[in-house]
Amino acid sequence: MNQDLITEIRNKVDIVDIISERIPLVAKGKNFFGVCPFHEDTNPSMSVSREKQIFRCFSCGASGNVFTFLMDYDHKSFKEVLKDLGSRVGVNTSSISVNNVSTKYDKLYEAYNISEKYYQNNLNSKEGRLAREYLYKRKLDEDVIKEFGVGLSLDNRDNLVKLLQNKKYDLATLNQIGLAIDDHDTYMNRIMFPLHDTYGKIVGFSGRIYKTEDKSNGKYVNTKETIIFKKGSCLYHYHIAKDVCRTTKSVIVMEGFMDVIRASTIGIRNTVALMGTALTTEQIKLLKRLSNNIILCLDGDNPGKEAALKNGKLLLDEGLEVKIALLPNPDDPDTYIINNGKEKFISLISSAVNYSDYKIEKLKENVNFNSEEDLSKYINNVLEETVKIDDEIRVEIILKKLAKDYNIGYNTLEKRFNALKAEKPLKETVKVEIKHPRNKRKDKYIQAMEQIIYFMVNNNDWVIESVANENIIYPTNNERLLTSEIIYYYKKNRGFSLADFYTYLQDKPDLLNFLNEIINSNYIEKVEKKDLFTYFKVLKDYSKTKQIERLEEKLKKENNPDIQAEIAEQIRKLKLGE
Ligand code: CTP
Ligand code: MN
Repeated sequence: MNQDLITEIRNKVDIVDIISERIPLVAKGKNFFGVCPFHEDTNPSMSVSREKQIFRCFSCGASGNVFTFLMDYDHKSFKEVLKDLGSRVGVNTSSISVNNVSTKYDKLYEAYNISEKYYQNNLNSKEGRLAREYLYKRKLDEDVIKEFGVGLSLDNRDNLVKLLQNKKYDLATLNQIGLAIDDHDTYMNRIMFPLHDTYGKIVGFSGRIYKTEDKSNGKYVNTKETIIFKKGSCLYHYHIAKDVCRTTKSVIVMEGFMDVIRASTIGIRNTVALMGTALTTEQIKLLKRLSNNIILCLDGDNPGKEAALKNGKLLLDEGLEVKIALLPNPDDPDTYIINNGKEKFISLISSAVNYSDYKIEKLKENVNFNSEEDLSKYINNVLEETVKIDDEIRVEIILKKLAKDYNIGYNTLEKRFNALKAEKPLKETVKVEIKHPRNKRKDKYIQAMEQIIYFMVNNNDWVIESVANENIIYPTNNERLLTSEIIYYYKKNRGFSLADFYTYLQDKPDLLNFLNEIINSNYIEKVEKKDLFTYFKVLKDYSKTKQIERLEEKLKKENNPDIQAEIAEQIRKLKLGE
């Protein structure tokens, strides 16, 4: 790819603008600070430098340039990011071709886009009258129908298949991507809801029956799993919620997409739907990217309550803040909003209870408070739940309430609580995973070399020239490789830019990680000539020590007394620094 084009694009965008469109940044001194999106963070540990056009997180060790940031944040390929930024700053990127893999996918995505339009046309046609009436009866008006791309599949056996075949899709492909079964359409006579991936591309559909007499194949039928649609890693409405959640600082999780659609009609859009699945690990990861504050607003029936308990625990175990918004049985958010309106729903959401309070309340069920055995079991269960709470004041409130309600000594409760707390594995309290511990012990040679590399990428020309002219013995291979890449890059480009060097290194992930590690260590930034030579001296000592070690090894194995004497003399000279 054209290196000049990449550099031109990077020079025309400002990393501070790009990141602050996604994360609030606060200026402090020369740099900007924000909450790092790449780990679970509440403090502003990420700094962004306008001068250097790089970002780095002091806590998790992520760092890079504007391309790296967007690739990780928006989950795009390097080329996609280049094209986005290029069109934004008016640089022609038509020479950048997106590779074969994604053009193959593009064709699949296109099939879904064609299908969406086809379904939408059906809904607006004469044959769509019944379906439109159904939707209006469910209080979904034109705007919402359009916003969510709702459509209709018809009674015809193979209209969509024919349409797509005319556009050069073969039956095998259509079967593969779930739009055809054998030679006919997958969906017939259903209201069609497009499903999107995290970027907002359509990757499948869910079709709902709407005729009262229709009892076929379940209420909803979803596109089967395909290469681009994995139900377990899909959250309905994620692509919209991901922007909204940045300002709301919370995400509301619902069961069905009718719930999400309904909430949208009253202006609540920080919502996602599980689509009837148990919460998966992938979905938890996605939720984490939206917010640390999760509000579970599941159906008010018993399965919904059970799901709140189960999913709440999974989320809590991942270190997320979990609240439960309780709907009366048998409402779901959809029916609740229809029957009670916007204000009531908003107050229901804002009075959502902490997961642990909810759990403790639930523990009361089926306890016979007249039985001492039941009561003691119940109290133990409550204490076990309380141990998971990070907030000391809340713990005290719970313990005091227990003591009062059941007439038990506070000290007794506290003792038991402390005992349980001591049993609890430490793991759960460690939330932030530090990729590159800064206090990792490194010997002084490695430190000296890393410091030199740090100088090289921060002070550029004269440091790099000096290192290039120095005969360095490298303590580790990574240091040797990275240094030679820096020098090579510098010579080739007649200059050095750390921000562009990140891009240059992206095909060498090991070195890139290594560079990140160095950048996130506490090395000194500015250097004077004499300091640099002090570090060179440390490395020279290193090479001497190595040499002495080698000679001593040799001496041990040597039997000839003359040669032994010669080696001993060499060692003596080296030690004296001759
Ligand atoms: N679901 C599904 N297949 C079914 C039933 C449900 O895939 N046979 C998924 C759908 O994604 C649905 C979600 O589970 O949105 C929640 O199910 P449910 O509560 O039954 O759906 P509602 O959202 O209440 O749908 P409706 O109001 O249209 O009945
Ligand atoms: Mn429901």
